[in-house]
Amino acid sequence: MCGIVGAASLRNVTPILLEGLNRLEYRGYDSAGIAVLREGQLQREREVGKVAALESLLEQRAVKGQLGIAHTRWATHGKPSTLNAHPHLSNASVAVVHNGIIENHEPLRRELEAQGYRFHSDTDTEVVAHLFHYYYATTTHQQDSLNEAAEPAQRLMAAFRATLGRLHGAYALGVLHIEHPDSLLCARMGSPLVVGEGSEEHFIASDPLALLQVTDRFIYLEEGDHALVSRDACRIFDTAGAQVDRPIVRFEHGDQIAEKGDYRHFMLKEIHEQPRVLKATLADKVSDEGRLLASVLGAEAEALLDRVEQVQIVSCGTSYHAGLVARYWLEGLAGLPCSVEVASEFRYRHVVVPNNTLFVTISQSGETADTLAALRFAKRAGYLATLAICNVPGSSLVRESDLRLMTHAGPEIGVASTKAFTTQLLALLWFTVLLGRKWLGEQRLAELIADLAALPAQIEQVLALEPDIAALATRFASKHHTLFLGRGPHYPVAMEGALKLKEISYIHAEAYAAGELKHGPLALVDDDMPVVTVAPSDELLEKLKSNLQEVRARGGQLINFICEDAGLEDGEGFHNLKLPKVSDSVAPILFSVPLQLLSYHVALVKGTDVDKPRNLAKSVTVE
Ligand code: F6R
Repeated sequence: MCGIVGAASLRNVTPILLEGLNRLEYRGYDSAGIAVLREGQLQREREVGKVAALESLLEQRAVKGQLGIAHTRWATHGKPSTLNAHPHLSNASVAVVHNGIIENHEPLRRELEAQGYRFHSDTDTEVVAHLFHYYYATTTHQQDSLNEAAEPAQRLMAAFRATLGRLHGAYALGVLHIEHPDSLLCARMGSPLVVGEGSEEHFIASDPLALLQVTDRFIYLEEGDHALVSRDACRIFDTAGAQVDRPIVRFEHGDQIAEKGDYRHFMLKEIHEQPRVLKATLADKVSDEGRLLASVLGAEAEALLDRVEQVQIVSCGTSYHAGLVARYWLEGLAGLPCSVEVASEFRYRHVVVPNNTLFVTISQSGETADTLAALRFAKRAGYLATLAICNVPGSSLVRESDLRLMTHAGPEIGVASTKAFTTQLLALLWFTVLLGRKWLGEQRLAELIADLAALPAQIEQVLALEPDIAALATRFASKHHTLFLGRGPHYPVAMEGALKLKEISYIHAEAYAAGELKHGPLALVDDDMPVVTVAPSDELLEKLKSNLQEVRARGGQLINFICEDAGLEDGEGFHNLKLPKVSDSVAPILFSVPLQLLSYHVALVKGTDVDKPRNLAKSVTVE
């Protein structure tokens, strides 16, 4: 949430910062701003709304310079407004951009007001600007680990460290001081930040994607790191203030720079990428001869997995739904008891940890604040080991877990998750098969691996049904409420379908286990409430068919996603979409895809902003 970009260069950095903001906009789009140093002057411009609004404003103002920071905001403290947009200034000499939340901003604000500082916004961030200004003004030139640096840099760093020492909460920060036209300060605590290395120029950003137009070489700051970045150098210090070396990493997805191509929206592009990225996610996990490659999880993984007796999965949102599907697999195929919980609840619960329980997090971004906090809690709670299933190499979750299982969905820009979800499911099914390998027997094992390998081509077939799904979508546009029903692993698939519809079309959607219908929700059903069912031909189909009749008898309009052989025909109140019959194990992955397309086409009919739905942002790095 929110995006930071900064640059120190010999060239004018404004276009670099604006391009960075455009690339980061999916992380927050309430307002945007930029601050650039030029000839001893700090120029700052801010605008409410999307980055395009800031760009239009800058066409009328000459904002140019060789050092600058910029921000796109997802409001936490203070409504979206120009005054609350970043960068925040102090006394026209300090500029700050911030992601995260400063939890002790209220006492700090009172303290600074008592010192005579005037606040111009409702944000928690403004305290950082004034605090840094205060410490810079009052810090004497101290000796510190910057022995080789000139004295003014020592003062800058001392003031920055004094500021960081006062902050509680989560932050990624980018800071400028007018007396230091070559220096960019940055820090990371609970919110990601990278330094990008160019040729005689350096950059900072909350996500490498922001900088792929200028570099593919990144240093990922670690928790508690802070750095002094200039055009020709980057010095990084740890929490104790000791200078440290962090590796430079080449960005893996450099060849897939996030562009929409011929697609109307990123979400549609990402839905259509699923056959390719599912194949890529499987490629490093199964050998050409069909052998499971446990080594992708990390060294020693196989021996450790033999000790697993239970699994605890913790995640949020769509990733939580992936965990719920996996519970059916882990219990049904690997014979392992499994619990699944949302991270925001788990992290504050007094958990009892059964012996030999593997703790698994699932996250597209690897930076979700609640999931990360749950992992840190779990590491102290006595779990056997921790595993992160994640799409972003180098993310906090991946770095802090004992084992890692990477999905290879590539950058996901649409706020509503699609390909990240199905690749998580594929990785989870692979992981289940790995855990259950001794239990399953060779023939079953080979069948499951073959099911996984066949899936990308089957999903191509589902994507070809898009025109039929678009036609079904027209039935929703005028509705206000929808029910999604499923049974077994297709209940969480229905939950994910309901979440997608809510997120991008703003139609209220609820998912129920179909058997629960008559215990309450049936009261809602009438001919104005579409009921979507996820109904593959599995052992629960006949039971589900009875649930459909219950709906139909109350006048409900049914939209059924079924297999070709389901024996259900279209009729009054029955609208069926027939999908290829696939094996039960992979059906939850296949049936997720038409629900994504359904939400997408409903949103198109409604004319909402598909890729940037209201109130949301990608990667929730605040609690
Ligand atoms: C919904 C969506 C969110 C995320 C959730 C967790 O489409 O994307 O529900 O799944 O915020 O994010 P990650 O997976 O990055 O931990």
